[in-house]
Amino acid sequence: MFEKLFSLQGKVALITGGSRGIGQSIALAFAEAGAKLVVSSRNKRPPELEKVVEQIRGMGGEAIAIPAHVGKKEDVRNLVQGALKQFGRIDILVNNAGANPVLSTMVDLEEEAFEKVLEVNLKGAFLMSKTVANEMIKQGGGRIINISSISGLRARADKTGAYCISKAALNMMTQVMAKELAQHNILVNAIAPGSIKTEFSRVNWTDPERKEQRIREIEIRRFGEPEEVVGLALFLASEASSFVTGEIIRVDGGQTI
Ligand SMILES: NC(=O)c1ccc[n+]([C@@H]2O[C@H](COP(=O)([O-])OP(=O)(O)OC[C@H]3O[C@@H](n4cnc5c(N)ncnc54)[C@H](OP(=O)(O)O)[C@@H]3O)[C@@H](O)[C@H]2O)c1
Repeated sequence: MFEKLFSLQGKVALITGGSRGIGQSIALAFAEAGAKLVVSSRNKRPPELEKVVEQIRGMGGEAIAIPAHVGKKEDVRNLVQGALKQFGRIDILVNNAGANPVLSTMVDLEEEAFEKVLEVNLKGAFLMSKTVANEMIKQGGGRIINISSISGLRARADKTGAYCISKAALNMMTQVMAKELAQHNILVNAIAPGSIKTEFSRVNWTDPERKEQRIREIEIRRFGEPEEVVGLALFLASEASSFVTGEIIRVDGGQTI
């Protein structure tokens, strides 16, 4: 019963931003649970994406890497078509690619930087979800998991305003799409991590002032590790969550209690 609930045997999962951090951890866990993997990122650091594929193959799993910028329509089309060509279907989509390239108050934020954040965090997830959901509808169902953030649930005045706004919109997109797609047996949920120690959040665990502030906020009094997001992702991808949709679930060590 337990194994069947969490097994991803025979499933095909596509993970954006799968080259490192939270996306990499989810990719490895899904492969261990039996899924075939398509891992993607812009591949800014080429060995990273290939390394994840090699790790999965080393575990006896099946995986391919397809580079794509999630904000670019043509890249998204190539990615989804490449996945379908290789594996014939996509059962699980994890919209994990995310960016927060600048730290700025809203009044000082350049228009281009605002657009960049929305392009990756919101439009990217939209383009991916729309394209993959159309395939899932033909297949008869699927799972979409958006990696959001607690920053989308609570306003912060720490120069991450555009990021907060993009994740708040992603949360609403999760719920709108959950409502629209339930009739097609597609479940759409979001994970809202708190402070997880990755490349992306480096400034928060290296800048002494920001680090101290975070630790003070987190009830567990430490940053989370990427592997600590995996359990929830596996739950949302598997049979265990068959009656769960439209949820935004926090993994934040109590940071927003
Ligand atoms: N770490 C945290 O504290 C934290 C907290 C809450 C939410 N999150 C969310 O968790 C997700 C993963 O973050 P992480 O912390 O694991 O960051 P990370 O270690 O920096 O990984 C980010 C991944 O996204 C890819 N990526 C970036 N821009 C992309 C684009 N335009 N198109 C496709 N791929 C792109 C990166 O690869 P390339 O550079 O090669 O493209 C990389 O694989 C993000 O959505 C982030 O907002 C993180």
